[in-house]
Amino acid sequence: MALLGCGVVGSEVVRLLREQAADLSARVGVPLEVAGIAVRRLDRDRAGIDPGLLTTDAQSLVTRDDVDLVVEVIGGIEPARSLMLEAMKTGKSVVTANKALLAEDGETLFAAAREYGADLYYEAAVAGAIPLLRPLRESLVGDHVHRVLGIVNGTTNYILDQMDTHGAGFNEALEEAQALGYAEADPTADVEGFDAAAKAAILAQLAFHTPVTAADVHREGITEVTAADVSGAKEMDSVVKLLAICERVPDEDGRNGGRGVSVRVYPAMIPRSHPLASVRGAFNAVFVEAESAGSLMFYGAGAGGAPTASAVLGDLVAVARNRVAGSRGPVEVTYAKLPVLPMGETITRYYVQLDVADRSGVLAAVAEEFARQDVSIQAVRQEGRGDEAQLVVVTHRAPDAALSATVDRLHKLDIVREVASVMRVEGDE
Ligand code: HSE
Repeated sequence: MALLGCGVVGSEVVRLLREQAADLSARVGVPLEVAGIAVRRLDRDRAGIDPGLLTTDAQSLVTRDDVDLVVEVIGGIEPARSLMLEAMKTGKSVVTANKALLAEDGETLFAAAREYGADLYYEAAVAGAIPLLRPLRESLVGDHVHRVLGIVNGTTNYILDQMDTHGAGFNEALEEAQALGYAEADPTADVEGFDAAAKAAILAQLAFHTPVTAADVHREGITEVTAADVSGAKEMDSVVKLLAICERVPDEDGRNGGRGVSVRVYPAMIPRSHPLASVRGAFNAVFVEAESAGSLMFYGAGAGGAPTASAVLGDLVAVARNRVAGSRGPVEVTYAKLPVLPMGETITRYYVQLDVADRSGVLAAVAEEFARQDVSIQAVRQEGRGDEAQLVVVTHRAPDAALSATVDRLHKLDIVREVASVMRVEGDE
């Protein structure tokens, strides 16, 4: 086998291959031998790595005759895509952890796997060590998945958890996440939701057998989440989480998925009684709802060298076993081709906290704005504070466009001093 990349995950893969060589060999039926490791620079200190295996010529490595499995842990779009395509073209099986590439151009890789009869496994691309893609690809492939709802980014979960537990502001919690090594020096991919959106695209594609790219995913990060949002959630016995949500949207006849699918990432309130609310720190968890299986929850470490390497090793053993048996694993099929709906057509619920003048007609005027957009109110709570009042409105489910138009109108009302918090509400009504 060839390894492309020898960073945090790659070096863990090499360590596990060495330390567990006898077990892995017994499980596969033949030894798993590393023929070469492609790196960008040869002059780095790499403890535990045989320098004789290192090369900067990845292109030659993936086409070598003595290589039949290629593990890609370089990340990014190129040269990873070309190298994996080249490997599959020459009959090799590929294992990758590359969520960015799968979310941007998975179709090209899947098409190559189909055309060349190659295995393409990528469990490590979503939620690190948690076995999630294989259950969707294999165990649940006979079922009808309605919804995938998850916390798939540990950095943002850590930050939101700190805000909830210690009342920290976003910046303070981010600095702490950086000091602990959860967040990168440039935290954009995590805090702006790009990482979660790529994972949502991969999950939606597998769950609904429909092509979905990261560009199709509605994405909002957590940089705008305030202490007021978090304390508002607490008052509702809820917690703010960055959620990746993939769901079938029913048509007028109630046919689930009849209108298409909605794939989105945003911070939202979920009730503390929801299983996802108890996911603390940098952990990940994904809740899958399927027609016959009902609700399933997958929980564990979503990042880090060793947990991600565990997922890579699992795939490696699977593709190696397939080769020994002369078979191959599942091929991705995106036959359903369901439309990905714009956010405005997605059905959501809102929590809106307003500072308003405390006088007659104010509540009626606010309620009127919801009614104007045909948004039904589920609960209202008002608390007087001198000549002002804090008003909290929680809606029933409505199209997101109607909810956001209502909030735009509320901003313009003279009686509204401030729209203090707006947050979507997820979890069952
Ligand atoms: N940065 C990601 C996280 C891990 O915080 O979960 C890699 O996807």
